[in-house]
Amino acid sequence: MDSALAGLYRDFDRHHLLPLWTQREDLMPHAPRPAAVPHLWRWSELYPLAERAGALVPVGRGGERRAVAIANPGLPGLPYATSTLWAAVQYLGPKEVAPDHRHSQNAFRFVLEGEGVWTVVNGDPVAMRRGDLLLTPGWAWHGHHNTLDAPMAWLDGLDIPLASQLDATFFEFGPDEVTDRSTPRHSRGERLWGHPGLVPVAAPADGPEAAPSSPLAAYRWEHTDAALRAQLELEAEGHDGTLEHGHAAVRFTHPGTGGDALPTLRTEMHRLRAGVTTTARRETGSSVWQVFDGSGTISLDGRVRQVSRGDLFAVPPWCTVAIAAHDTLDLFRFSDAPVFERLGFARSETVEMTEAEATDVVEAFDAAEAIEATGTSGTADAVGGAR
Ligand SMILES: [Fe+2]
Repeated sequence: MDSALAGLYRDFDRHHLLPLWTQREDLMPHAPRPAAVPHLWRWSELYPLAERAGALVPVGRGGERRAVAIANPGLPGLPYATSTLWAAVQYLGPKEVAPDHRHSQNAFRFVLEGEGVWTVVNGDPVAMRRGDLLLTPGWAWHGHHNTLDAPMAWLDGLDIPLASQLDATFFEFGPDEVTDRSTPRHSRGERLWGHPGLVPVAAPADGPEAAPSSPLAAYRWEHTDAALRAQLELEAEGHDGTLEHGHAAVRFTHPGTGGDALPTLRTEMHRLRAGVTTTARRETGSSVWQVFDGSGTISLDGRVRQVSRGDLFAVPPWCTVAIAAHDTLDLFRFSDAPVFERLGFARSETVEMTEAEATDVVEAFDAAEAIEATGTSGTADAVGGAR
C-alpha cells in the first residue's frame, strides 16, 4: 500500500470512519452467515439441572425467575438460543411465587408437563396445564404462583435478544405477591375470546383486540390436539388441510386479526404421522423447537440426531431442517417469522436431500463434535441416539 493510501486509512480511523470496499463481503454476504449454530439440548439433562437449581437457588425479587436459558454455543457468553430468540426452562417449586413484574419483551409459556401453577397476567389468573400455550404480551404485568406441593417446569420463550439489539427494553417491578390468588379453570381472557370464530361485539376499538398481541391469554391443549387430529383425519379421507403429506400444523393466532399471537414471535404446533419425513427446508429467521411427545430424528444442516419428549433444538437462519417421525411426533415451534415478514426479509426454499441424509444418525460424529465444542464428553449435545 502506498503511503498516501495508508495515510488515508489512518485518517479514516482517526475520524471514526470505515470504508465499505474493505468489508463489503462481511456486511453483505451472498447468504446469511449466522454466528448461532444448530444445537440440541436434551430434556433428560436439562430437567435434572433445573431441579438442582430448584433445590439451591431461591426464586424472588431481584433475580425474579428461576429460568435456565439455553445458550447457543455459537454465541458464547450470551443466554440466547439464537440471535433473536430466548428460550428457557423455568422451574417453580412447591407453593413458590414468582413476583409480579413487567417488561417490553413479549413472552409465552409452553407447558411440557405438570399443572398447578397459575400465571396472573394483568390481574387475570391463567391456569397452566400440559400442552397449553400461555401468552404474556410485552408490558403486561405478570407473576406466577404454584398452588401444589409438587414442582412444575415449563418452556419460556421471549424476544429478549431482539429487544436488546433494538435497545427497546424497559422493565418495572410490581408487587412481591401475585395480585390474585384465585384459581379459575379458565381465565377471563379465554371466557371473552376463546370461542371459535366468535369475537365479542362489545369490545371497544381501543381495547385489547386492537393491540398487536392476542387478548386470548391461553391456548388449550384440547383445542390444539383436536385441530391437529382433524387435519390428519381429513387427509386420510382424501381432503386438503395438512401442510404436507402426514404433517399437520397449526399456528396460534390473534383472534381479532388472524395474525400471529405475538407481534415478534410465531408459535406453532406440528404433528407428524409415524414414518413421515418432512421436506427439507431452510429460511431466513431462526426458530426453537421442543418435542412435545413421541420420538424421531432431526436433521440440521445434514447432521442427524435422535430426539424424544422434551428435547429442545435451535435452528439458526438458513439452516436446513428435516424432521422424521418414528412414532406420532408432536413438536412445538416458535420463531421470529413475524419480524422477518413485516420487514420484507422473509425468504425460504426447499432443499434436495436424500432419505439417508435426512434420517441417518451418525453417533460417532455427534460425540466427537460435542467433545470438540465443549471440552467434555458429558454435556448437552454429546449423545446422538444413545440415550
Ligand atoms: Fe417476565
